[in-house]
Amino acid sequence: MKITALVDVKNLTKVFLDKKNKREIRAVDGISFKLNAGEIFGFLGPNGAGKTTTIRVLAGLLPPTSGYASIFGQDIEKVGDRVRKHIGFLTENHGNYENLTVYENLHFFGSFYDIDDLDARISAILEEIKLTDRKNMKVGKLSKGLKQRAALARVLIHEPKIVFLDEPTAALDPEAAVNVRNIIRTLKSKDKIIFINSHNLEEVQKVCDRVAILNKGKILRMGSASELNKDIFGSQELLIKTKSPIPRDLLAAISDLDYIKNVRVDESLEANLYLHLSNLECYTPEIVKLLVNNNIPIMEVRPQSHSLEEIYLTLMKETNEDLIISQNKEVE
Ligand SMILES: Nc1ncnc2c1ncn2[C@@H]1O[C@H](COP(=O)(O)OP(=O)(O)O)[C@@H](O)[C@H]1O
Ligand SMILES: [Mg+2]
Repeated sequence: MKITALVDVKNLTKVFLDKKNKREIRAVDGISFKLNAGEIFGFLGPNGAGKTTTIRVLAGLLPPTSGYASIFGQDIEKVGDRVRKHIGFLTENHGNYENLTVYENLHFFGSFYDIDDLDARISAILEEIKLTDRKNMKVGKLSKGLKQRAALARVLIHEPKIVFLDEPTAALDPEAAVNVRNIIRTLKSKDKIIFINSHNLEEVQKVCDRVAILNKGKILRMGSASELNKDIFGSQELLIKTKSPIPRDLLAAISDLDYIKNVRVDESLEANLYLHLSNLECYTPEIVKLLVNNNIPIMEVRPQSHSLEEIYLTLMKETNEDLIISQNKEVE
């Protein structure tokens, strides 16, 4: 049987009962997505968005209230050890025993799995995570950054195909965070899915191939940064630097082209041309050809994509406006 998506989530919902206040909390509210092998997927959202709950449900630690999710084509509610052994989960706290050494922790946690040569595997993962020289140090004596790397080693000891990382750098200083991010990037491989929960835009932008933006339990948008750009801002901006200013009649002709939505010339640097194109991939070669045919020397051609931060802020503003509108409706 050929399985297309390793992870398939349909309308997944998790409702908690807040007994004290006698109300329901819809932590995850009807989310759907598919994940394929080889990708690093980012689940981005503010605190309380439902990121941890989603991971806990997918890892089989919490039953969903409704909806469906499968891993390797198997319903997560019925997932047995055969599937569970392909999952690695880094929780928000590092989870190793502080008074055991790095090696002892890996030996202990590794012994739960059916690993042929555990010592060889420990050596390999320590090399991969660059911790070989700390092998005999007690975890409690490691810096926060190294503790997190030891935690990654533990989560990866059994070579899981699906790795869930919950806020992997949240508690780290910037340097240690960069370090851990670099290691995560090296883990990318074609037979693995790495699923990262994060409220850190920079992290997701740097590490992930695709991202879902989550707020109040709902996925607002999903795609690669460039897909989200196109989806949210409609057109894409291209910067073309030329050696000399572009003649006015040529600028006018460019403005008239069907695929050009807007033309702007940098006022201080007349040779900087900003174009809004309906599709960068299709039309960048066209516009370059046009300039070259008109003997304009081109110095640089660069897409000006919006950062994930701009995308995120735009989306959050939109949802807050929606909220205000729906609240007003209720009052009417
Ligand atoms: N075990 C629980 N019982 C009750 N409410 C919970 C529980 N776990 C999470 N929640 C609530 O669900 C919402 C989503 O939480 P969580 O998934 O931890 O968000 P995130 O990881 O994005 O910060 C929050 O409002 C949180 O208070
Ligand atoms: Mg969380």
